[in-house]
Amino acid sequence: MKIVAINGGPRKGQVSKTTMMLEAFLEGCRKAGAEVEVINLREKTINMCIGCYTCWVKTPGVCVHKDDMKDILDIRKGADVEVWATPLYIFGPTAMFKNFLDRSIPLYEPYIVEKDGLCAHPPRVADQVSDIVVISVAGFYELDHFRPMSDWLHFMAGRGLGRIGAEIYRSSAEFMSAPPLKPLTDKILEATKKAGEEYVRDGRIHEDTMKAIQLDIMPDQETFLKQANAFWDWDIDRWKKRRAGKQS
Ligand SMILES: Cc1cc2nc3c(=O)[nH]c(=O)nc-3n(C[C@H](O)[C@H](O)[C@H](O)COP(=O)(O)O)c2cc1C
Repeated sequence: MKIVAINGGPRKGQVSKTTMMLEAFLEGCRKAGAEVEVINLREKTINMCIGCYTCWVKTPGVCVHKDDMKDILDIRKGADVEVWATPLYIFGPTAMFKNFLDRSIPLYEPYIVEKDGLCAHPPRVADQVSDIVVISVAGFYELDHFRPMSDWLHFMAGRGLGRIGAEIYRSSAEFMSAPPLKPLTDKILEATKKAGEEYVRDGRIHEDTMKAIQLDIMPDQETFLKQANAFWDWDIDRWKKRRAGKQS
């Protein structure tokens, strides 16, 4: 199985909870025998779609922009599964990730067909549509914050832009780098790795694994609010002191 992972997070390394979750998942996939390739969108030059439709009319399948997206589309063509990883930004994916999707329109035909009662563009190559595993992390406490993005992804899949194979959503994600919570974070990452193994082996993530991924890193919303706001107080104060130190 060839897996192509697209990371739409702007932050690097262990500061990025998207990357932490993605790496754990892919470790599990590799362990189960999958071949994995990772594309970090933040390292790529991908211009914004300018809506010229050159890729649909003048040079079918080829975008007017000469940038890294061409190679990315070529890599995607060989994927059995794509992992779409993005932090939750304003209840959706990052702009970088959305731009990646916009720039994927060369993979589709301009012609419009009826699909399950609604309009859709068919893929240029029929078997180009791969299974998609979504990984996203959010700052807020409740998993409900992922609902708009999950609904949007399912609607998009219904229009033929992919098949959602699994969704991994991790809320309260910023607490995953809090040293006192390391034992819980390790459990989450271990479960995420197991999810990768299960997905490659069984084509799905088991319910108990998903429960472990989504374990309450904070015991309740009240504690979450207290701890999160204490962090912001500490961080703002730290910078205030630094600024004051520079001035004196
Ligand atoms: C511009 C911006 C928008 C965000 N919007 C949301 C949001 O709508 N809901 C939420 O729970 N967290 C939101 N967050 C918090 C991030 O999802 C959270 O910090 C996450 O850990 C970032 O992923 P990363 O660690 O991979 O960078 C936002 C953060 C930024 C910078």
